[in-house]
Amino acid sequence: MLDLSVKLAGVTLKNPVVVASGTFGFGREYSQFYDLGELGGICAKGLTLHPRTGNPAPRIAETPMGILNSVGLENPGVDAFLTEELPFLRQFDTKIITNISGNTPEEYGILCEKLSDAGVDLIEVNISCPNVKAGGLAYGTRPDLAAEVTETAKKHAHGVPVMVKLSPNVTDITEIARAAEGAGADALSLINTIRGMRIDPETRRPILRMNTGGLSGPAVLPVAVRMVWEVSQAVPLPILGMGGVSKGTDAAQLMLAGASAVAVGTALFADPFAPLKVRDGLAELAERQGLPSVAALTGGVKPW
Ligand code: SIN
Repeated sequence: MLDLSVKLAGVTLKNPVVVASGTFGFGREYSQFYDLGELGGICAKGLTLHPRTGNPAPRIAETPMGILNSVGLENPGVDAFLTEELPFLRQFDTKIITNISGNTPEEYGILCEKLSDAGVDLIEVNISCPNVKAGGLAYGTRPDLAAEVTETAKKHAHGVPVMVKLSPNVTDITEIARAAEGAGADALSLINTIRGMRIDPETRRPILRMNTGGLSGPAVLPVAVRMVWEVSQAVPLPILGMGGVSKGTDAAQLMLAGASAVAVGTALFADPFAPLKVRDGLAELAERQGLPSVAALTGGVKPW
């Protein structure tokens, strides 16, 4: 029997497939399609201390192999999540990951206090949102600030593992990875979206109201694989790999590059069942290769 379970920062996931923050809401819509307990974990839509309406529309633009988004962290705020959404998610036999963003390190600390007190399984610290003025990428592109946010989050997470979400919009992602590790991160997740832009040649207006946004979907998979590979060699932390995963062989690439688990995001918009297909595809590949577990794929790349 193939063992599908994996460990991520000491948390056991029943299978390596998690749904990525911002692509699954709080699970309600997808729960009409299947039992959310089939998933290794659910990463909830990114939370902030106070509710946010997000950026003005249009904030989604299709591209040939993915989408650009400039959502701007629309969410009901952490308190509404705790009273209205967390009890719903708790019905399912899966791990609950919460993604947090703050305007200041102190805000990250308060968010960690509230969420760890509520007993979430893992906290993903988002220092990589490309669509907000304060916080976001400002923290994810400077090692000193990434370290400060990580340290504050760790101090207030009361033992709940802290996973720092890295941006690909940097010259050397390993610098930020090392800073997060040095500040006590328990895991890393990567990659967030790659900054991009589309322009209507007739109106000469950018398609997105914020002019630029973050690119996700199949186009970014090779970038994600390369960055997971680089980070896995630079730091000894477990990695949640993401970026353009829509089938088992995509997930296998991220795991071979060094990820312990994978997140499925943009693929969900076209196919709500994508995470289950990724899980089954990974299992099929591992079985065909005679592996005892899917975890045996992690770090197995044979570089030339
Ligand atoms: C957004 O809400 O703008 C996307 C979140 C992110 O990229 O971290």
